[in-house]
Amino acid sequence: MHNDVAQVLGELRQDHKNMARLLNLLERESNRLYDDGEPDIELMRDVMHYMTIYPDAVHHPKEDRIYAELKNVRPELTSGFSRITVDHQSIAEQGMKLRNDLSLIEAGAMLKRNTVVADALRYVNTLRSHMQWEELDLFRRVDSMIRDGHKLLDTSELPNASDPVFGPGVEKRFGRLFKRITAEF
Ligand SMILES: [Fe+2]
Ligand SMILES: [Fe+2]
Repeated sequence: MHNDVAQVLGELRQDHKNMARLLNLLERESNRLYDDGEPDIELMRDVMHYMTIYPDAVHHPKEDRIYAELKNVRPELTSGFSRITVDHQSIAEQGMKLRNDLSLIEAGAMLKRNTVVADALRYVNTLRSHMQWEELDLFRRVDSMIRDGHKLLDTSELPNASDPVFGPGVEKRFGRLFKRITAEF
């Protein structure tokens, strides 16, 4: 199945806006620990659950596909590309660890909260700077491929899951997270 590259790129840009909202929420909850408050661990875990099942599982493979297309069509525009795989892998690993640690705290394990919260803030920074690189540089390279007339992308190998928070239907387990982001922003 082929898709319009511009449409796929538009979806990636929208995903970034959604992720940015969740990272703001994650950062705010994490900072509560340092402001003598109690972070909402359940909400933080919900954010990380989303990150591992949508951005890591759908958004990043979609980007990998679009960057592979760029590599085929405009190989001269692929400087720095080896960092993309490293970034996606490390974001997924950090995210999975954080999600597990937050689940353990929720279940009553004696993990040090400030260590887990520091990990959460590190995750926020890593993902933010990765997205910024894509928006300011990589996505613009894709724009130039589209301007050159390369408009179709074979998407048959891509996972076809819809966004469980920002998609057409909010998955039940993300109901609380959805309420919180729609109330705050
Ligand atoms: Fe990416
Ligand atoms: Fe991205």
